[in-house]
Amino acid sequence: MEKITSLAKRRGFVFQSSEIYGGQNGAWDYGPMGIELKNRIAAAWWKEMTQLHDNIVGLDAAILMHPRTWEASGHVENFTDPLVDCKKCKARFRADMIPEENLAAKKCPECGGELTDTRKFNLMFKTHIGPAEDTASIIYLRPETAQGIYVNYKNIIQSNRMKVPFGIAQIGKAFRNEIVTKNFIFRTCEFEQMEMQYFVKPGTDEEWFDQWRKRRWAYYEKLGVKMDHLRWHQHGPDELAHYAKDAYDIQYLFPMGWRELEGVHNRTDYDLGRHTEYSGKDMQYIDQDNNNERYIPYIIETSAGLTRNLLMILCDAYDEEQVADKGNDDDWRTVLRFHPTLAPVTVAVLPLMKKDGLAEMAQDIRNELKEDYSVDYDQAGAIGRRYRRQDEAGTPFCVTVDYQSKEDGTVTLRFRDSMEQIRVPKAELALRLRQEIKAYKRLK
Ligand code: GAP
Repeated sequence: MEKITSLAKRRGFVFQSSEIYGGQNGAWDYGPMGIELKNRIAAAWWKEMTQLHDNIVGLDAAILMHPRTWEASGHVENFTDPLVDCKKCKARFRADMIPEENLAAKKCPECGGELTDTRKFNLMFKTHIGPAEDTASIIYLRPETAQGIYVNYKNIIQSNRMKVPFGIAQIGKAFRNEIVTKNFIFRTCEFEQMEMQYFVKPGTDEEWFDQWRKRRWAYYEKLGVKMDHLRWHQHGPDELAHYAKDAYDIQYLFPMGWRELEGVHNRTDYDLGRHTEYSGKDMQYIDQDNNNERYIPYIIETSAGLTRNLLMILCDAYDEEQVADKGNDDDWRTVLRFHPTLAPVTVAVLPLMKKDGLAEMAQDIRNELKEDYSVDYDQAGAIGRRYRRQDEAGTPFCVTVDYQSKEDGTVTLRFRDSMEQIRVPKAELALRLRQEIKAYKRLK
């Protein structure tokens, strides 16, 4: 993880928030490469979950919602972590994350001091809306994006003529006052989620639950993620969230071990039922194709962290490879094996020399490719060094303009993973890249 954190900073993926003031716990900033990667992960998910389905539509709901939302959802009452403090060293722990014997003996796992009793700590961030800081003005930063979907489900049925089964997808920020925020961007107080809520007829929920588990698994396979680094974990009775009848996590083998990447949950009619109760509005679906049968749909939720997916993609792509045996530093390269649809830079254009018109020719190629691809241009330093820089940034293709290019109009196309180089007529580059991206298969 240290290597990944340091590469992420060095190459402009992720910076500590407010670093000049010593950093802000639980918050991170995404640099020029990080925002490109994040946008591409979000775009891949969005395409998978909306564009590829006729019956799933998108939404972008507000972060600030009516406070009754969170009473109805059960978050005010139930969205808590058990917390203990050490009276001696003042360290704070999640009670479910320290060894049971320490908890039973009330003994601090760090200094051996006495621990306080376990108390419940609500993870929602509270703030005030309007000028008066009284209880009437309390408002929460949403701890999940899902509720914005539930409160809009009737609007969407009406405006978009949706029929059960159908889904609503959303990507957006969520906030949780996490007690433990170590492991880089794995668990943060401000993060982004990619959630899809699928509304189904009661009784068909288990079938849809299985269906969505299969689809979400297949998605990661399509992205070229190492499948032996993924596994399912079914929630036991103690782990199930207050709204869930059944839940499975897709876990990824991060450097610190197997951890949750995404959850697939059967939320039953809990949320819509509670919103009916708390808002007084009828949340039933009227099935016009079936004698106006009325029911509250069951909800199958797929809930992935966008920022956690970014960490997974970084870990999964990271590789150190021996490429020579000369006994010096250049024998090894660091390479990020991003899928080309996710790579922040798709293609780098490199003139072999700055002189003799090679730079101008390379700039023309850069300008042409820019229309379709994210392109980097680099003319500084030895060509081998420039390839290494691109490997480390995860750029899947490099185009090199050399003296032969001036003679016959061909350029070198270099592949990041195999380091193989072929010659391609420059007029065919854009099309060739498209074909390569489509046919991409990860080598290792
Ligand atoms: N709507 C259901 C829900 O929010 P969750 O299991 O609490 O379920 C879903 O969260 C996903 O959101 C997780 O699998 C994880 O990827 C991401 N996530 C949750 N808390 C996070 C945090 N503090 N920091 C980063 N990502 C988080």
